[in-house]
Amino acid sequence: MKKKTFPLAKAYTLLEPGPVVLITTSHKGMPNIMSQSWHTMMEFEPPLVGCVISGRNHSFDALKATRECVINIPTVELAKQVVAIGNCSGRKVDKFKRTGLTAVEASLVQAPLIAKCYANLECRVADTRLVNSYNFFILEVIKAWIAPAVKSPKTLHHRGKGEFMVAGETIKLPSHMK
Ligand SMILES: Cc1cc2nc3c(=O)[nH]c(=O)nc-3n(C[C@H](O)[C@H](O)[C@H](O)COP(=O)(O)O)c2cc1C
Repeated sequence: MKKKTFPLAKAYTLLEPGPVVLITTSHKGMPNIMSQSWHTMMEFEPPLVGCVISGRNHSFDALKATRECVINIPTVELAKQVVAIGNCSGRKVDKFKRTGLTAVEASLVQAPLIAKCYANLECRVADTRLVNSYNFFILEVIKAWIAPAVKSPKTLHHRGKGEFMVAGETIKLPSHMK
C-alpha cells in the first residue's frame, strides 16, 4: 500500500472507535445531554468505560458533582440530533426541548434514559484519578437496557468535522474473546 504522511492533529479521526454516544446527566433537577465519541471499554465485568469529557462542558460539572450519568447509544436516525446536541451547551439550552427527544426515568441513577436510543447504560463514576490531568472519567455500568427489536443497529462513528461512518454489516467468526 502506498502511504503519505498524515497530520498528527487528525490522528484521532483514524482511531476514534465510536459509536458516538449521548451522555445524559441530571444536575440540580435539570437533565442535560452531550454528544461523546472519545470513550473506551476498560473491563468486561463489572463493565468499566473510560470517557474524555472536556472541562469546558456543562456535563463535566454535572458528572463531577453527581457522579452519575447514562450512556445512550443512538443510531443513524438520530444523526441530526447528535450534531445539534454536540454544538450547544446545557448551560444555555434545554436540549431535550430543542431536539424533541424524550427522557425516560432510569432505574438506578437520576440521569434520564433517551427513549429513542436503542441501548442505554446507567453508570456511576468509579474513578476520578485521571480527571484533573486528562478529563478522563472511569464509569462503571450498573444497569444496561437494550431494544431487542433492533437487530443490526446502524451506529454512528465520528471521523471529525461532522463526517460520520455508519455501521453496516455484521459478520461472525470463531473467536476466543467474550
Ligand atoms: C460527534 C461529536 C462527538 C463529540 N465527542 C466529544 C467527546 O468525546 N468529549 C467531549 O468533551 N466533547 C465531545 N463533543 C462535544 C460536546 O458534545 C459539546 O461540547 C457539547 O456542547 C457539550 O455540551 P454540554 O455543555 O451541555 O455538556 C462531541 C461533539 C460531537 C458532535
